Amino acid sequence: MYKAKIDLKYNSCLVTGGAGFIGSHICEEAVNQGKRVICLDNMVAGKEENIAGLRDKKNFTFFRADVTDLETIVPQFKEVDIVFHNAASKCTVCRQDPFLDLKVNTWGTWCVLEASRLAKVKKVIVASTGSVYGEARYLPQDEEHPVKPRSNYGVSKLAGERYAEVFKEYYGLDYSVIRYFHVYGPRQESAEWGGVIPIFIRRAWQDKPLTIFGDGSQVRSFTYVKDDVNANFLLANDSRANGQVYNAASGIKVTILELAGLVKELMGKTSLPVEFADWRSGDIKVFDINNSKIKELGLSFETDFRAGLQATIDWYKGYFKAQRI
Ligand SMILES: NC(=O)c1ccc[n+]([C@@H]2O[C@H](COP(=O)([O-])OP(=O)(O)OC[C@H]3O[C@@H](n4cnc5c(N)ncnc54)[C@H](O)[C@@H]3O)[C@@H](O)[C@H]2O)c1
Repeated sequence: MYKAKIDLKYNSCLVTGGAGFIGSHICEEAVNQGKRVICLDNMVAGKEENIAGLRDKKNFTFFRADVTDLETIVPQFKEVDIVFHNAASKCTVCRQDPFLDLKVNTWGTWCVLEASRLAKVKKVIVASTGSVYGEARYLPQDEEHPVKPRSNYGVSKLAGERYAEVFKEYYGLDYSVIRYFHVYGPRQESAEWGGVIPIFIRRAWQDKPLTIFGDGSQVRSFTYVKDDVNANFLLANDSRANGQVYNAASGIKVTILELAGLVKELMGKTSLPVEFADWRSGDIKVFDINNSKIKELGLSFETDFRAGLQATIDWYKGYFKAQRI
């Protein structure tokens, strides 16, 4: 299903949040390409099982640390060519604890940039989110769309983007911002605070009704995780991307209701009921994303949604069996 991949041109990289969902896929691909990889994670949401397959590789090192602890992390950045900054406190957590969001996503990003500057890292790829746009003023949303985040999380991530701009201006530190949108694939958190795709897969696996918040007309632009690994490597490699912001979304449009139907179909559980609950505050109704800027650099989003979903379901079936879920 997944064909093309981009070779990272650098010899070494550090991945913050490397034991998390997206970060572990970046680590895995970089290790497979023979790069020296440092995975830095405080394991607040990261999982040992996400990196278990990398532990015995000579070119992989795990370092448990908090990105907000500048003094501790600085030495890890020495002799690193490029940093993929994926560590974050994410939205479900921040509603309970906005300060944690501010601390990790804003101050933590500042620390990662500062450590990169001190260690003379060549470039930082800052993971951001489509949530920085807020409710769409026009569709499809391109990178010029005004930013008006509607959540603590979105505000804290936008501040992280802005710090990257400042570091470039003050110190010439190269960066690219990659805005992700509803990334899915193996290893995403499937508990109730996880992504909608693994939550639906898990509930269907357990023969529980699928719960939709609102009427299910919300539109999402799901993107397969391997395509976003490619997007990270492309932005890392290409100097035209320096100082730029990119939407890294597949560009597809799927409603949550359609998703529920597809998960039921692909799992052979078409009779499973769907329940509707109240809209969640801050939920953005439509993500219709213009990805032409990143495509102009040469990226193609290879993965067909149905095929990506099937691959994801297949992975979770093995995972749930092994975990006795
Ligand atoms: N998954 C998506 O659809 C999506 C969408 C938009 C943006 N993002 C962004 O992508 C990045 C990766 O997200 P993910 O889905 O892989 O999430 P994840 O929760 O699976 O991974 C985040 C990782 O960061 C680690 N972490 C958290 N706080 C830390 C700290 N203070 N110090 C060190 N490590 C810390 C966690 O332990 C975890 O392993 C994040 O920056 C997130 O904001 C993800």
